[in-house]
Amino acid sequence: MILIDGKKAAAELREELKHEVTGLKAKYNKVPGLTVILIGDLTPSQIYVRNKEKSANEVGLKSEVIKYPDSIEEKKVLEKIEELNKDETVSGILVQLPLPKHIDKQKVIETILPSKDVDGFHPMNVGNLSSGYESSVPCTPLGCYLLIKKVEPNLNGKKAVIVGRSNLNGKPMTQLLLKENCTVTITHSKTKDLKAECLEADIIIAAVGIPELVRGDWVKKDTIVIDVGINKTDNGIVGDVHFDEVSKNAKALTPVPGGVGPMTIACLLKNTIDCFKRSLS
Ligand code: GUN
Repeated sequence: MILIDGKKAAAELREELKHEVTGLKAKYNKVPGLTVILIGDLTPSQIYVRNKEKSANEVGLKSEVIKYPDSIEEKKVLEKIEELNKDETVSGILVQLPLPKHIDKQKVIETILPSKDVDGFHPMNVGNLSSGYESSVPCTPLGCYLLIKKVEPNLNGKKAVIVGRSNLNGKPMTQLLLKENCTVTITHSKTKDLKAECLEADIIIAAVGIPELVRGDWVKKDTIVIDVGINKTDNGIVGDVHFDEVSKNAKALTPVPGGVGPMTIACLLKNTIDCFKRSLS
């Protein structure tokens, strides 16, 4: 079984990006800038944002974190986004989710200029991705895609089963795999026989938020299994895949932690650099 090392793949990607930023700086005398807005004091969000900032600095991006208390008015956040939209030194804007209840997530997402939407959540980017046009692609599915391609560069005709239909993961993952000529099945909580669907798969992407849902006997030999889940349990952090059981059957599997997570952040840096490059042309 191949243990897909997301930490190593992310370090390699960051190294490539670092070289790219050095080249851009030499050529244009400016560097891509990433601004993250963090609202409230949820611990997981604080940890994510700290990691994003650290990684951005490591590859040489200009990085800024704007922190607001939970009580911030929605209007103030939207005004700040408008200001960042106009700021030429800001290539990418990310508003960390989840947001406090009184702030409309969709309004926030739609206020970010599509050309600075490093999350790929703006409807314009969602539409462009599904039409096969150039767009920002959400970081987590992009990270999963790059990990799959490392194990299997030719995905032509492969059967992919995605567990979970979220806008963050399941849906954009579908588009990326369709572009690679996979036959894609999206499953979810109302799917009749999840195990039977998974048993058909050459590639399984588990992104549903249910601890250890995908079991060993759901996976045929030679399947690549990507675990997007991060679930807090009494036994610590586990994914959506039963690691011990599935590792006995699968051809390749991502661990949790150390699989998809590090790639998500590296892909955010990639998206920021890509936004910068598109802004030059
Ligand atoms: N919260 C958890 N994952 C994400 C993400 O990919 N983007 C944003 N903006 N917030 C998140």
